[in-house]
Amino acid sequence: MKPLVLGIESSCDDTSASILQGRKIFSNIISNQNVHIKYGGVVPELASRAHQKNIVPVIDLAIKKSGILLNDLDAIAFTKGPGLLGSLLIGTSFAKSLSLALDIPLIEVHHMQAHILCHFIEHPNHKIPKFPFICLTVSGGHTQLVLVKDYFEMKIIGETLDDAAGEAFDKIGKLLGLNYPAGAIIDYLSKNGNPFKFKFSTPRVIDLSFSFSGIKTSVLYFLQKELNKNSSFVKENLYDLCASVQYTIVKALMEKIHKCVEKTGIKNIAIAGGVSSNSYLRKELISYSKKNYCECFIPELEFATDNAAMVALVGVLKYEQKQFSSIKSTSDSKFTF
Ligand code: KG4
Ligand code: ZN
Repeated sequence: MKPLVLGIESSCDDTSASILQGRKIFSNIISNQNVHIKYGGVVPELASRAHQKNIVPVIDLAIKKSGILLNDLDAIAFTKGPGLLGSLLIGTSFAKSLSLALDIPLIEVHHMQAHILCHFIEHPNHKIPKFPFICLTVSGGHTQLVLVKDYFEMKIIGETLDDAAGEAFDKIGKLLGLNYPAGAIIDYLSKNGNPFKFKFSTPRVIDLSFSFSGIKTSVLYFLQKELNKNSSFVKENLYDLCASVQYTIVKALMEKIHKCVEKTGIKNIAIAGGVSSNSYLRKELISYSKKNYCECFIPELEFATDNAAMVALVGVLKYEQKQFSSIKSTSDSKFTF
């Protein structure tokens, strides 16, 4: 019988619980927090309070929806880090208590590894990556190129020197007056815009590193200048501004993917994390792969942004390898792999 695992994710501003048996998904409940919208970014204290409020109903619903009983569970997997400490602690404490109460193993999960390994969740029409592959992991807090030789044999071979790609979308969105998180909104508005209307650029950084703080500053100065001349500039040009920003960020990501393929010779390319939902990035990766005889692996939207199914999947893989954690295990906001 394949292991039945409950995954719990609480690293940032989404409370999520999921049940998987082997690689098969039974439920994946995600509760987004909108208390942060009026602040234009995640307020850590409000995030942990919201997790505390949401965690019981979210887990309860995940169990009910899966049709299993709590006592059927074989293990509890939880996100140990990286993330916001106060938020992580809610998921960690709950996971530890439940593992003690049910007397079943506890499994700690690295959030970014979980993003990458979401590709191994069974889903109709989803291609499973072949090892070795490279994964561009792009989220609100991270932008990394990871060489994945096996499930737990991963090496970061490139990362951002400053802001993450998702952070750039969110901060520029704020300058444009969009709600947090702005990535998906910019993606949506870009569909009606001209990506070549405004020229922005990202600084050239060596090798497989990224840098996204420059584009935020250049958009800021550009808007200040234009708004001085015309106070309705953003409103009148919103679609083109979004499309131009999205084009610039995706271009920078694709350039590094190309460099990484050249450097490693690996032609299996995956993307993961919230920004991998971006429709333009997906389109560009598919066309790059076709032109360069690569195979690309794009996650289902449900598994791209933060979710507990990816945490439960890592739980299943670690269960199979008997990689259990001690009850003394705790959250680690800077957890590395
Ligand atoms: O992986 P994720 O859900 O949470 C973190 O681990 O950070 O990523 C969230 C990030 C946010 O910055 C959000 O704006 C961005 O992913 N995002 C997108 C899209 N959907 C979410 N960015 C660009 N286009 C999207 N469609
Ligand atoms: Zn994430």
